Amino acid sequence: MRFLMCRPTYFAVDYRINPWMDPTAPYDTALAIRQWTALRQVFVDLGHRVDEIEPLPGLPDMVFAANGATVIDGRVLAVQFRDPERADEGPAYRAWFERAGFEVHEPKFVNEGEGDLLVSGDVLLAGTGFRTAHAAHARAQEVFGRPVITLQLVDPRFYHLDTALCVLDRDTIAYLPEAFSPGSQAVLRQLFPTAVIASLEDAEVLGLNAVSDGRHVVLPSQATGLAQSLRDRGYATIGVDMSELRKAGGGPKCCTLEVRS
Ligand code: ARG
Repeated sequence: MRFLMCRPTYFAVDYRINPWMDPTAPYDTALAIRQWTALRQVFVDLGHRVDEIEPLPGLPDMVFAANGATVIDGRVLAVQFRDPERADEGPAYRAWFERAGFEVHEPKFVNEGEGDLLVSGDVLLAGTGFRTAHAAHARAQEVFGRPVITLQLVDPRFYHLDTALCVLDRDTIAYLPEAFSPGSQAVLRQLFPTAVIASLEDAEVLGLNAVSDGRHVVLPSQATGLAQSLRDRGYATIGVDMSELRKAGGGPKCCTLEVRS
């Protein structure tokens, strides 16, 4: 697999755009960099390719590369953030993809990239309710020519789809049912009858914010129950400590954008 990541050189928690962020609490940028570097090394050791985008001062959340774009079949759907604090990240990621020779499409609506748009087999699972606008789902369907399934998020702690649901392989996901509206829960039960159901305890350490290559699942080391369920299903689990980045509401998946050529 090919990933794009952004070193947390300027990581900070100095504003609050999700319930995890407490601008009055201490944070440690050096520790965030060490945790991020360890995550990057896990991907390299698994044989994946990792590209890096240059971090920009004044954009403390730029480390969360998953929000930088959605990339499928070499086509890039650029992003448009809900919050002004992150607005300048959109053009920065866009420029990276343009320089790398990708075809880039305008978002047109609030769209926070792979935070809310996850590829599951031939369809896109799309979150809305907090960040990505519902209208962005139709836009994604048009740009990628893949069916988009809208899922309504209802718990502010699980504000991006990738905090409540993880794609494990072509036909399996793991998710926290109560993070979704009743209708969306019914849709998920219908589409994924054999899904791994996560506990609130695991979701509360951002356990679902995991990266799977179909065999190995890289997830926060604190999500021990979820890790066990995944091993019971035959996945190899790799725990990483992302405690510092969690202070901004992010985990391994948030730090990782998949570049699908
Ligand atoms: N502080 C960031 C925000 O609230 C965290 C983003 C996490 N990214 C993700 N893909 N869930 O926007």
